[in-house]
Amino acid sequence: MQSEKRIAIYPGSFDPLTNGHVDVIERSLEIFDQVIVAVLHNYRKQGVFSTKERIQMIQESFPSTPGLLVESFDGLLVDYAHMKGAVAIIRGMRANSDFENEFQMALLNRKLSRDVQSVFLITGMRWIFTSSSSIKEAALFGGDISDMVPKPVLARLMERYPKLQKTIAAKSQNIDP
Ligand code: PNS
Repeated sequence: MQSEKRIAIYPGSFDPLTNGHVDVIERSLEIFDQVIVAVLHNYRKQGVFSTKERIQMIQESFPSTPGLLVESFDGLLVDYAHMKGAVAIIRGMRANSDFENEFQMALLNRKLSRDVQSVFLITGMRWIFTSSSSIKEAALFGGDISDMVPKPVLARLMERYPKLQKTIAAKSQNIDP
């Protein structure tokens, strides 16, 4: 049974959260009473950050935000959505290249459950080229990705990638690294 509150699930790997994700979360909160950011706990695929770290980074990026909940999930997304009484699954869509995968996922989810709707939000133009994987790759080699992630995420990335730390330190002292 669905609750009276309009609940949406925003699922993903979030390894780590980017400003593109932040944009989708903020806009989802304008539409739904409650948005549950659901971090996939993938036993088979180890990411750069643990599930716990990913959740912490999201929570730190949204301190005391009414209507926002951050959790992990495993198993089928539609089962989790039912358990939470959600009416919608939110996904951000950047460019055409996202479409194929999202289309397949939405149709599969619809086949598995007819009472949860997939809702797509087109990511803001600024974030079209932002993805967790490209951010991690740039950070590994010391690329300045500081305006592509929230501050708590930047801090963790700097801990993880010494070259990024060097770049940011040089930037703060205004020297060319
Ligand atoms: O951020 P991602 O990696 O694109 O997110 C993918 C995610 C977590 C939404 C997707 O892999 C998922 O829903 N996994 C749970 C298992 C499931 O329900 N699979 C069927 C739908 S693809």
